[in-house]
Amino acid sequence: MEGHIPVLKKPILEAFRNVSGLLLDGTFGGGGHTEALLEQNSSLNVTGLDVDPEAQVRAESLKQQFPRRFEFYPLNFSELEQLHKTFDGVLLDLGVSSFQLDNADRGFSFIKEGPLDMRMNPNSGIPASHFLKTATSEELTKAIRDYGEEPHWKFVVKSILNARETETWETTTEFVAFLLENTPLMHSKKRGIHPATRVFQGIRIAVNDELNHLEKGLTAAFNALNKAGILAVISFHSLEDRIVKQHFYEWCGRSTNRLDEQPRQLKTISAELLARKPIVATDEEVRVNPRARSAKLRILRKL
Ligand SMILES: C[S@@+](CC[C@H](N)C(=O)[O-])C[C@H]1O[C@@H](n2cnc3c(N)ncnc32)[C@H](O)[C@@H]1O
Repeated sequence: MEGHIPVLKKPILEAFRNVSGLLLDGTFGGGGHTEALLEQNSSLNVTGLDVDPEAQVRAESLKQQFPRRFEFYPLNFSELEQLHKTFDGVLLDLGVSSFQLDNADRGFSFIKEGPLDMRMNPNSGIPASHFLKTATSEELTKAIRDYGEEPHWKFVVKSILNARETETWETTTEFVAFLLENTPLMHSKKRGIHPATRVFQGIRIAVNDELNHLEKGLTAAFNALNKAGILAVISFHSLEDRIVKQHFYEWCGRSTNRLDEQPRQLKTISAELLARKPIVATDEEVRVNPRARSAKLRILRKL
């Protein structure tokens, strides 16, 4: 199994260069960002969180490397209030890691055969196979149209609802074969991505309730930031970035809507944007790590 290359590592190190004290890595994953941050600055300690039990196992070796400067909790970042701590920096690197994507047994891959699961925490919630059996028409539409942004969503939802009366999909490849045989996805105009990409993305977001956790987690992270603390968030698709942008603009007293006539001074400004536009990967980084292609990094400082 291959490892995970931390995305936008350079700008992340830059963002936290002058931060000392305690940093929260809310999406520990393989610990790539945490390790680099601990190495960069000896006056920084890190608390790592991840919902995935396999991330907890990986965190053990970092604990041995930095016994007094690193700790890990198996917690969703939306529940970070439970830590009763404040932080000088918070990093959220959203979505799934290459460890999860590349391990067929986790069910995220539409190429490798595995159980149709897709849960970041396999001990909680329902696997994707169960979601496909039990979701209402509205829930399937939300997943495939809204979260997956799949142009053929209507056809896909209808096909799933009709077929599931007689068929079940227990593995990733069974479900992909069904999609390719029974929906127009194969003729999807968007080249360069697998035809099942958007459907898988939508179901994954639904199964893990990712956007609700993000909404809740961003507010919790901002509340837990000390004055002058830095919040950096890397998102990987437009739905995530929209939520991040809305929250950042609200805290920084900026409008996301050009028609919003509310005068600036009436808004409570509690943070400043450290990058006016989201930071994206260089061509060089994308060449080495294609996953960085869609990454967008937004950074703010709490006032
Ligand atoms: C993109 S990876 C992070 C990679 C990490 N920055 C690194 O360098 O190795 C995202 C990780 O966050 C975890 N994750 C996603 N959403 C989460 C949430 N709401 N709470 C806690 N962990 C979450 C996933 O399980 C995954 O391991």
